[in-house]
Amino acid sequence: MQTNRRSTTSPADPRLIPLWTPEQISDRVASIAGKIDHDYASNPPVLVGALKGSFIFLADLVRQMKSPAEIEFIRLSSYNAGTESSGHVRVAWGPGVEEIKDRPVIVVEDIVDTGLTTSAALSHLRRKRPASLRVCTLLDRPERRRTKLTADYVGFTFSGHFVVGYGLDLDQRYRGLQGIYGLEHDRKN
Ligand code: IMP
Ligand code: MG
Repeated sequence: MQTNRRSTTSPADPRLIPLWTPEQISDRVASIAGKIDHDYASNPPVLVGALKGSFIFLADLVRQMKSPAEIEFIRLSSYNAGTESSGHVRVAWGPGVEEIKDRPVIVVEDIVDTGLTTSAALSHLRRKRPASLRVCTLLDRPERRRTKLTADYVGFTFSGHFVVGYGLDLDQRYRGLQGIYGLEHDRKN
């Protein structure tokens, strides 16, 4: 039997429950890319990836898109440890006015959970006067929402599980998994 060289992509961890395969993810990413291409045909958007969790989704999304989107990043921190967000979100850095003023902007997220992080990103970016501002997220867990936020482009909507893989982490682990997995753990609330 072949040895498991790429242990991060073939998890042996019994706590990991497979939720979406790389093929299922790729199909959804292609579908979202097609929708964005269609919606922004006359004016390619600036995609603002929310670090760090969106880096793999953004990389796949931009490669599936036909339009010449520009890429920026925004770094938010929510003072969280483990699986719970503290609710205090700080924008560490993001694109300058010159990068997004009067441009159609799409924030690209790994997951919208409470919505506090994405809302903070939106308020920050709005102050730089983009022509329009939308949200694209790979994963949406609306049951935990603590803001009014609705994403414009969504890969998968789900409830329950804390999830890891395809860029998403638990304390910086599991980001390199090619699929997305639920992780059994004790959530504090
Ligand atoms: P928020 O609760 O919507 O503000 O989400 C904040 C951030 O927490 C997200 O951008 C993710 O990086 C992280 N997060 C929320 N839920 C999960 C999860 O199930 N797995 C991994 N990260 C998560
Ligand atoms: Mg995270």
